[in-house]
Amino acid sequence: MAGSIKAVRGTRDLLPPETETWNFVEAVVREVFRVYNFHEIRTPILEDLQLFQRSVGEETDIVSKEMFAWEDRARAQSEKGQWLALRPENTAGVVRAYIENKLWERPGLQRFYYIGPQFRRERPQKGRYRQFYQIGAEVIGPPTAGSESPAVDAEVLEMLATLLDRLGIQHWILELNSVGCAADRQRFNEALRAALKDVVHKMCADCQRRAVTNPLRVLDCKVPEDQPIIESLPKMNEFLDEGCRAHFEEVRKILTAVGVPFKINNRLVRGLDYYTRTAFEFTHGGLGAQNAILGGGRYDGLSESLGGPAAPGIGFAIGEDRLVMTLQETAGTAARSVDIYIAPLGTGMNVEAARLARELRRESVSVIVGDDSFRLKKSLETASKTGARYALIVGENEISSGQFALKNLGTGEQITVARNEIPSKVLPAK
Ligand code: HAM
Repeated sequence: MAGSIKAVRGTRDLLPPETETWNFVEAVVREVFRVYNFHEIRTPILEDLQLFQRSVGEETDIVSKEMFAWEDRARAQSEKGQWLALRPENTAGVVRAYIENKLWERPGLQRFYYIGPQFRRERPQKGRYRQFYQIGAEVIGPPTAGSESPAVDAEVLEMLATLLDRLGIQHWILELNSVGCAADRQRFNEALRAALKDVVHKMCADCQRRAVTNPLRVLDCKVPEDQPIIESLPKMNEFLDEGCRAHFEEVRKILTAVGVPFKINNRLVRGLDYYTRTAFEFTHGGLGAQNAILGGGRYDGLSESLGGPAAPGIGFAIGEDRLVMTLQETAGTAARSVDIYIAPLGTGMNVEAARLARELRRESVSVIVGDDSFRLKKSLETASKTGARYALIVGENEISSGQFALKNLGTGEQITVARNEIPSKVLPAK
């Protein structure tokens, strides 16, 4: 036999029954998004590489080290190929779509959500994959529609708290910071540059380069030996102007009023360049080193930096892989098992079994159909192994009388029910 082909490093198959938890999560979040008036957007997985260079930023780890990018074959010899990338995140794609489709012409704020795969060439480990999934949302719009309001930040954060609570995730921590506006960031960068001048030679090669090109990114460094120096650097909150300070205060005031707990983390700057003002992460102790379930923040200048109109925005992305992992480790959502195993009794019962299965499925009852080659005892054993909650025996007597034996495979109790009463006996009461 030839050598078997394996899934690409950092990618994996999501299999049943785990996919039940993924579906549970997606059903809950879609319902929460509906209640908060968010609407789905689907953008391509493949984008122009420049999109990420100009938004996430060339000096970020994501763009400088982790992109799956390549030059697409040129159509003619005289032409150059276009540089394409698998999206490492979805905010840039959503803002590109906002600009390209002139969505600012639509009234009010645009409130989008997305669920889909993202790609980063990171070193795979628990909770970190090269193909991973994000559930995200973005609120974008012209300033005249109120897109800069701190009320929007607070609403997004309150929705996230609701979402995690609804999913049954406990003990999450909301870490909050303000990274200021572009001018504040520039002053902060200058202060960092000055503070780094005498110490940067002791740091790693990446930090030495970043101290010149984009000092803020020094704060993302994970090299243990560099951490004491990073700890001693100035903090972003010392550089906020009055407007940003007041904005941040209002966000905190609303959150406190609606009862969403948070922790201020002055070191939180996020690993992407487009952020302004509010920046946040939700962490969970159960996740180990990769403890951020989600991250997000404001990006008031992103649309303009991609050639669009002024369109401040705020959003977040949840790492769905990590969310599912947390649920499995803590809440342990029980995958709903199949309602009924139909056990046809005797030859010729396949037709009746198929007919009954069709009727029941139309009533939203989930059904596995056995075949008529089984004896009753063996059939019931098979039914139990499938995890079905009930076995329904379908023999000639049952068909002619319209009365069926319904056996609860958990308790062993058996009752006789009329055909039209089967759904109400097996479905959970509404
Ligand atoms: P991010 O912090 O880069 O933000 O990613 C958000 C979340 O995606 C992380 O908190 C984590 O849960 C998950 N994640 C990231 N990388 C991986 C990986 N390799 N494997 C598994 N999970 C991962 C963004 O992507 C921004 N676009 C969020 C945003 C939306 N900001 C504003 N709007």
